[in-house]
Amino acid sequence: MELISGLKERRSIRKYEDKPVTKEQIEEIVEIARFAPSWKNSQSVRYNIILDKEIKDRIANECVMGFDWNTNIILNAPALMIISTVDKRSGYERDGSESTSKGEHWQSFDAGLASEAFCLAAFEKGLGTVILGIYDEAKVTEAAGIPEGEKVSALIPIGYAAENPDVPKRKETADLLRVR
Ligand SMILES: Cc1cc2nc3c(=O)[nH]c(=O)nc-3n(C[C@H](O)[C@H](O)[C@H](O)COP(=O)(O)O)c2cc1C
Repeated sequence: MELISGLKERRSIRKYEDKPVTKEQIEEIVEIARFAPSWKNSQSVRYNIILDKEIKDRIANECVMGFDWNTNIILNAPALMIISTVDKRSGYERDGSESTSKGEHWQSFDAGLASEAFCLAAFEKGLGTVILGIYDEAKVTEAAGIPEGEKVSALIPIGYAAENPDVPKRKETADLLRVR
């Protein structure tokens, strides 16, 4: 993949073919995503793949705050990646004190970088993904068995794309870039 074309052409995929993805495919993708940058290289992100249909469908049906849109995406996907992050690493010193005034902010920041790396690597490997932010963290933690001391930072359904969405309109560079 050309890096720039991959960045531009990756789309959020919400419909998937009825075809499984394997643990080996996910391993290949995480092998790439693990090179995402992180706070002081703390690497606090964990990649929890749910291949078990019963657990995945329970998350879809019970853990997305009644948001049917997300329920349907997860039910339709053959697998669900749950990005979690170990607490008190990113943005913190070894003695547990905050490194900046922004507290837990950097934990989510690292999760975002890892999520984008995961989605781009999946795209390169022929799989579609979408990052989901609407879910009930406590319920996902329980249903997926996320260890104590970690936050659930994103849900990412993954599978073979069964749609080819247009690019959602982007703001113009001139509206985004400020030069002083
Ligand atoms: C933090 C975050 C949370 C998101 N949450 C949802 C979600 O709950 N449901 C959904 O369908 N899409 C969700 N999306 C996907 C965005 O809607 C999508 O990235 C955006 O519309 C741009 O489309 P593109 O990814 O195809 O470029 C989320 C994306 C991000 C980065």
